[in-house]
Amino acid sequence: MNATSKKVRVPDLVRMKNDGERMVMLTAYDATMARLFDQAGVDILLVGDSLGNVILGLDTTIEVTLEAVIHHTRAVVRGATRALVVADLPFLTYQVSTEEAMRNAGRLIQRGGAAAVKLEGGREVADIVRKLTGAGLPVMGHLGLTPQHVHRLGGMRRQATSESAAENLVRDALELEAAGAFAVVLEAIPDSVAQIVTSELRIPTIGIGAGPHCDGQVLVSYDMLGLYDGLVPPFVKRYARLSSEIVQAAKTYAEEVRMGVYPQPADGHSQAPRPTVVAPLN
Ligand code: KIV
Repeated sequence: MNATSKKVRVPDLVRMKNDGERMVMLTAYDATMARLFDQAGVDILLVGDSLGNVILGLDTTIEVTLEAVIHHTRAVVRGATRALVVADLPFLTYQVSTEEAMRNAGRLIQRGGAAAVKLEGGREVADIVRKLTGAGLPVMGHLGLTPQHVHRLGGMRRQATSESAAENLVRDALELEAAGAFAVVLEAIPDSVAQIVTSELRIPTIGIGAGPHCDGQVLVSYDMLGLYDGLVPPFVKRYARLSSEIVQAAKTYAEEVRMGVYPQPADGHSQAPRPTVVAPLN
């Protein structure tokens, strides 16, 4: 697919995999950034629950609410014209019951305007994925390091590093595909495991810290733009250092305001016009 051509839709992703066309995904949380990524030809914009970390300043994604994701999804949808917008189902919005999962996924699509939802987990969520996709809601899976399970995993650790864990992950991926998922994010797993999953699945894999063999790649935009000052995973490549540019711009502005250099008078005079003093009549 040409990066400037027509709108990306869910079925395009399988076609891209079959054509050997790598798909490009970034997280986005607001309309301005969505517009810029769209201009750059990014195929998929993920309104990730990473917004908890990079937008809300939280330590984990666990506190992120459905309302917050809807709010940001609406903004991203306003900014994106070509990219496919996918919204994350936050922690405990899809695990309690299929009815709740359906209602919450429906809200991300109906109210948020997303084209698809993403959820974390393997065979334990396969029935939910089957129900959602059966009702016509496109679902992207997420395996490997699943940040909503940070406590169970004992931290943000690389996954599928043993043979049995790798086999489990491949089975999970196949279950998600059988349940109707249209793509699967693979996070922080060995390249060799991602390569096996990618060759076993008909649907695309989108890697983050999973090596070069996936069908596409995703990064948290604040990490790759160098906007986020917190700890970033070692696999992140910083394509810009926007945080230092922003600090510098704000410092220069502060200096100019304090020194009276900015703003300059609109009429070109450096002095503020003096008010006319009217002499008292007597
Ligand atoms: O929330 C998020 O940003 C994600 C990506 C890391 C894939 O799930």
